[in-house]
Amino acid sequence: MPATNAGMSSNRNGGGPSRRRYAHVVGWGSYAPAQVLTNADLERMVDTSDEWIVSRTGIRERRVAAAHETTASMSAVASLRAIRTAGIDPNDIDVILLATLTPDYWMPSTAALVKEAIGNTKAAAMDLAAACSGFVYAYATAQAYITSGMAKHVLVIGAETLTRFLDYSDRNTCILFGDGAGAVVLGASDKPGGGLGIELTTEPEGAYMIWLPAGGAKRPPSLETIGRGEHYVRMEGKETYRFATRTLASTALAAIEQAGLRSSDIDLFIPHQANIRIIEAVAKGLGLPMERMFVNLDKYGNTSAASVPIALAEAVNQGRAKGGDRSVSVAFGAGFTSGAVAIEWTADSARGIAGDAAVNPEDVRVRLPVDWDSVDPIPEALAAVMGRPVAPGVEVPLDDVVPGEPEHVHRDSDRKSEVRV
Ligand code: ACO
Repeated sequence: MPATNAGMSSNRNGGGPSRRRYAHVVGWGSYAPAQVLTNADLERMVDTSDEWIVSRTGIRERRVAAAHETTASMSAVASLRAIRTAGIDPNDIDVILLATLTPDYWMPSTAALVKEAIGNTKAAAMDLAAACSGFVYAYATAQAYITSGMAKHVLVIGAETLTRFLDYSDRNTCILFGDGAGAVVLGASDKPGGGLGIELTTEPEGAYMIWLPAGGAKRPPSLETIGRGEHYVRMEGKETYRFATRTLASTALAAIEQAGLRSSDIDLFIPHQANIRIIEAVAKGLGLPMERMFVNLDKYGNTSAASVPIALAEAVNQGRAKGGDRSVSVAFGAGFTSGAVAIEWTADSARGIAGDAAVNPEDVRVRLPVDWDSVDPIPEALAAVMGRPVAPGVEVPLDDVVPGEPEHVHRDSDRKSEVRV
């Protein structure tokens, strides 16, 4: 589906000429948890080797969220960094879009928790599910909000806590994924720039090639589904690899053409960080040298929806996307989805480092439910390798229990008055 930077006809200035709005990237930020899981750590868990993982994927290590961290908390840090980089107030954000396949809860949306954590009181907040393509899909949605005139600033987040949904006895999947979050702020402008062309595709025939079988309406969680390990990610690696190498270059090219450009006009490609061999195939498909492809999967592995915005924030902070440069971000994922956006950069790339430094992750809090009993969310096999003394029956300190009675949303007195009305 092409989704170009369509113009907006507006008569809001007393019937004046129609005015075109553009959606510029004005802020960017990311957060990666401190704990590192190396290939050597994985060698202690499954029958694999550093040599196999590096040569088949390019991944050397990935990050693991600490027990107190979640998709919402990592998102809030990345978002505040993007907001500080943009030089705006959290309350300037009109819409929050959070792409994830690992939300904190089925409901409420993780975006709602992030809205509160960043101190925003006015935005509409929602989650978006398109797996690893989620950030690009959310970016396209944000662009539509801005170019239609419905919003001035949209916060777009990609965040995952995938290490809690992996089977650490399945070497096909557990070596690939990691945790983290990235965010951008899109801002409205009359000046050309920002997202120039967008392409989104979905091929549902690949729907069961990467999936998480249980926990939804088709198979609600039960002792049986847990016993069968159906709450973990499953993947047909070869089919997914074929889809990615067949699709990524053509999706990127479609976005580039919608922008009225050729691939040689693109200064930097920021692809989904799934596998170095897939990125090499994209470069080959587009006839470009690997120097134009941004790669950081060696440090983070595949962080799904967080992969593109983390890479984007790092690339800009390294000065690889400066004012006037054009970049293309392209992703693929479960669904089978793919998406690409061609961006013209207008922001001062130097702002990102100061924006990151201005936000200390320890100062960011996501409110917990009242009377919440702590559970250690880290899978046992992972906790054991990472040196934390967690075993069945070991009590985890309940340090996050909020004291006091539960707050009822509807108090009895409210109900009585409702009945009277
Ligand atoms: N360590 C050692 N050996 C392994 C491992 C491992 N971790 N994993 C698989 N193998 C073995 C296999 O069992 C197989 O052995 P066999 O020949 O004796 O049967 C052999 O290695 C080759 O396996 P392949 O699956 O053919 O390996 P391949 O080169 O295809 O690499 C990989 C596998 C890395 C998973 C690759 O197919 C891939 O990257 N696919 C894309 C996956 C991806 O990007 N998924 C994310 C999608 S995004 C989202 O929406 C979440």
